[in-house]
Amino acid sequence: MHGQVALIAVIDSHDASRQQVTQALMSLYRVNAYADSERAIHGLRAAPPAVILVDEQVPPKGGSAFISHLKHEPALAAIPTVITGKRDEAVLAEMAKQCGAVGSLPKPFRRSALIKTVTALINRNVEADWDNLPEIQRQALKGTVEVFNNISDFIAAGEPVPFGSVKEACAPLIDAVAKNDFKGILNGVREHDNYSYAHSMRVATLLSLFGHTLGLPKEDQLVLASGGLLHDAGKISIPHEVLNKPGRLTEEEFTVMKSHVTETIKFLDVAHDIPKPVMIIAAQHHEKLDGTGYPNGLKGGALNDLARMASIVDVFSALTDRRVYKPPMPAEKALDIMTHEMDHHLDQHFLALFKTMLLDAVVD
Ligand SMILES: [Fe+2]
Ligand SMILES: [Fe+2]
Repeated sequence: MHGQVALIAVIDSHDASRQQVTQALMSLYRVNAYADSERAIHGLRAAPPAVILVDEQVPPKGGSAFISHLKHEPALAAIPTVITGKRDEAVLAEMAKQCGAVGSLPKPFRRSALIKTVTALINRNVEADWDNLPEIQRQALKGTVEVFNNISDFIAAGEPVPFGSVKEACAPLIDAVAKNDFKGILNGVREHDNYSYAHSMRVATLLSLFGHTLGLPKEDQLVLASGGLLHDAGKISIPHEVLNKPGRLTEEEFTVMKSHVTETIKFLDVAHDIPKPVMIIAAQHHEKLDGTGYPNGLKGGALNDLARMASIVDVFSALTDRRVYKPPMPAEKALDIMTHEMDHHLDQHFLALFKTMLLDAVVD
């Protein structure tokens, strides 16, 4: 399962509702759908999913009985299961409790509610795995995911991003990087279902690594890491269809996508204490040396070291991130593309340093 998007099983005898749920989840996950529990049990054994959604009317014995049965299958018992159905919310919640489901979703439900439920369950598993990491890596991941979730809430509420707490959450990350003990952090976000968090955390880690390699003071490294965590905050306002679209964006979609930079700046501007380097990382990480980047088409000398480092780290991370439509690209291949196909875009001196940094850190 490593490196692949999560598999979700949907068990529902109503054709329309099975199709609707499959449709809703398809752009984010792999989905296996079953019309009855007999077929489902074989499928689940053959390909255990990350989350199981069961309609309470599923034949022959109903969803509750089926979920109870799953709890006796050693390979399936631990998989989080959600019961769905056209029932009163409280009734369905009680059913869930009785049969051992972790949650309930009364029909009809909104797509967003469905995705929120599934995402939370996947992340619960991923975040539980962090407990097996060394203390410092665990702290870095737990602290940053919490602050990242809070950032979304602040943005949604139009409130200023609390920069102090972002910086504080990045402190264990800086320490992990200083000790060359951060591989578990980069890998630990791979399966995380909040793609924005996973990408931002990888950018934050690699920017700290740049800071550490250049021998910057700790305070500056903290600012770099915070800039990484915040650099794409504006993506919250980009529609999911554009953000997760496999393949090429249309010109119109690309315009929407590009607006994440100005959105990020707008959000960060609400707070008045965001350090300038953070603003530069957010504003200029899509600029290119030859002036073909966005949003301002800045060229050569107009791009300072921060912008140059940020774009290298952002491109590398985007290429090596796992997305719903592509497996992660191996680091070697990404660096090869960055060296040979993006030589007009990226600062080759910093890129050479970046490669050495990664080799020293033995990142895969
Ligand atoms: Fe971006
Ligand atoms: Fe980015």
